[in-house]
Amino acid sequence: MPDLHTSYLGLSLRSPLVASAGPFTGDLDRLGELEQAGAAAVVLPSLFEEQIEHETAEIDRLFTVHNESFNEATSFFPELDDYNSGVDSYLELIEAAKRRLDIPVIASLNGTNIGGWVKYARLLEGAGADAVELNLYTVAADPSIDGAALEAEHLELVALVAEEVGVPVAVKLSPYYSSLAAFVVAVQGAGASGVVMFNRFYSPDLDLETLDVLPRIALSTPEELRLPLRWIGILREHLSVSIAGSTGVHSGFDAAKLILAGADVAMSTSAVLHDGPGHFATMEAQLLEWMTDHEYESVSQMRGAVASHSVTDPTAYERANYIGNIVSYSSRVNR
Ligand SMILES: Cc1cc2nc3c(=O)[nH]c(=O)nc-3n(C[C@H](O)[C@H](O)[C@H](O)COP(=O)(O)O)c2cc1C
Repeated sequence: MPDLHTSYLGLSLRSPLVASAGPFTGDLDRLGELEQAGAAAVVLPSLFEEQIEHETAEIDRLFTVHNESFNEATSFFPELDDYNSGVDSYLELIEAAKRRLDIPVIASLNGTNIGGWVKYARLLEGAGADAVELNLYTVAADPSIDGAALEAEHLELVALVAEEVGVPVAVKLSPYYSSLAAFVVAVQGAGASGVVMFNRFYSPDLDLETLDVLPRIALSTPEELRLPLRWIGILREHLSVSIAGSTGVHSGFDAAKLILAGADVAMSTSAVLHDGPGHFATMEAQLLEWMTDHEYESVSQMRGAVASHSVTDPTAYERANYIGNIVSYSSRVNR
């Protein structure tokens, strides 16, 4: 049987399949089910600094789930009140998860100001988190702040937190930095032990009857895997820290692609919300099946085998044969 062991943020994991932050990882029973099904580590939902400051209304609105094609998934979602109600209950969740689980528990923090991030990261560490994930979820909507200023601020946050806490710090990134490759390498330089590529941004919708702007969450599709796949493939050779692939991991085959591109772990939320915590067992079986069929003996043998520096045409990850694809599509539809 192929060896699934991997290492992420210096933590030794039984497999590369990790439960990313989401409603299930905020519930103790679901956490137990995730571990039972084979999740190798769990990332708890983010503690939002705004939440701590009691500005919860907006967060509740953000987490209003709406997706016609995933109706059955909505029944899995806990009441919004249960989605982190404050710092004390968050610390209790970490402590309870640590008591209940044998796998590593990664706490997550979404902060807005420098003081807040450092203070709360220390609290998460104190409650027993094995690592802290900084969720840099910011929509750069202020035209007076340019890319360089915003990126400098984010790097300062990473450096401060990484310096202040003893546990490893992962940084969950968006793909929307002005020069993503340079920024990710700078995050490593700021002291992060790993990067999570990527968070998923939830774009608002308009209600044409009420003219309300509706912040809504839709679950991902496997097609979305291509974005982290490209960037992990490009960046693996430039990073010595851990890489987690996130967004669009719906099967063990998707996880195999991310590992081949260079990821140390593949994280999943949407597929597990859709199919239930037991989906981790399915994904593990699929990953093992692929490895057996393709004669890979271990995850470490697979990692980066198809990264840009390992393939004959490294530019494939960049332009993805841009012209060739466009020409062949065009000739197909115009035949
Ligand atoms: C309902 C819901 C809640 C989420 N909550 C968080 C969160 O608290 N913190 C965070 O960093 N990511 C959160 N995420 C993002 C996921 O962790 C993940 O990065 C994203 O959904 C992309 O992965 P996927 O394609 O496997 O869903 C949430 C996602 C969903 C669908």
